[in-house]
Amino acid sequence: APVTVVDHPLVQHKLTLMRDKARSTKGFRQLLNEIGTLLAYEVTRDLPLEPVEIETPMVTMQGAQIAGKKLVLAPILRAGVGFLDGMLSLLPSARVAHVGLYRDPDSLEAVEYYFKAPSDLADRTVLVLDPMLATANSAVAAVDRLKERGARDLRFVCLLAAPEGLAKFQGAHPDVPVWTAAIDSHLNEHGYILPGLGDAGDRMYG
Ligand code: PRP
Repeated sequence: APVTVVDHPLVQHKLTLMRDKARSTKGFRQLLNEIGTLLAYEVTRDLPLEPVEIETPMVTMQGAQIAGKKLVLAPILRAGVGFLDGMLSLLPSARVAHVGLYRDPDSLEAVEYYFKAPSDLADRTVLVLDPMLATANSAVAAVDRLKERGARDLRFVCLLAAPEGLAKFQGAHPDVPVWTAAIDSHLNEHGYILPGLGDAGDRMYG
């Protein structure tokens, strides 16, 4: 499945502001929400439409609506929540699945601590949200879990991806396309993205 780098100037400008280590918690959080809105616009660009009859004040006409059920947004806790409000501002009726994972600092394996999703995942497009795709352990585990619960049509949305993580994710879930604002250079020995922006969860929540 394709990887789309969202190179829109607004996204790139805001991402650069976020990388600045002097950016405040408030600024970081606000920028992540703003980029979330912009990424929501890009990731929904090819959603299929279906015709719908609508009455304008003048006549009846054939309009268009997004086909099928409302989307599901699936933020990976904690950092993925940073995208949520920004995306919900464009997709106000979306359902939300919360996927709680933390990365064990030694093994870098993803450990699940919470999972709550709508029961009808099989019938909806699911956007999995996490600003950072580093080793991809978290992303792979989240998609594994969502598929286990029935999801079949998934898209992964991140802010920064490491090439190693992208390769691993595509190997594990070749059916899930990825949208990211940037593909950075590499991971360091602690599994952090370089040049990166540090730990997104910590920068947002402390
Ligand atoms: C960080 C980050 C991603 C994950 C990425 O989460 O927010 O979820 O690691 O790394 P991976 O691709 O190697 O799995 P962390 O465990 O720090 O939790 P947090 O979001 O709650 O801070």
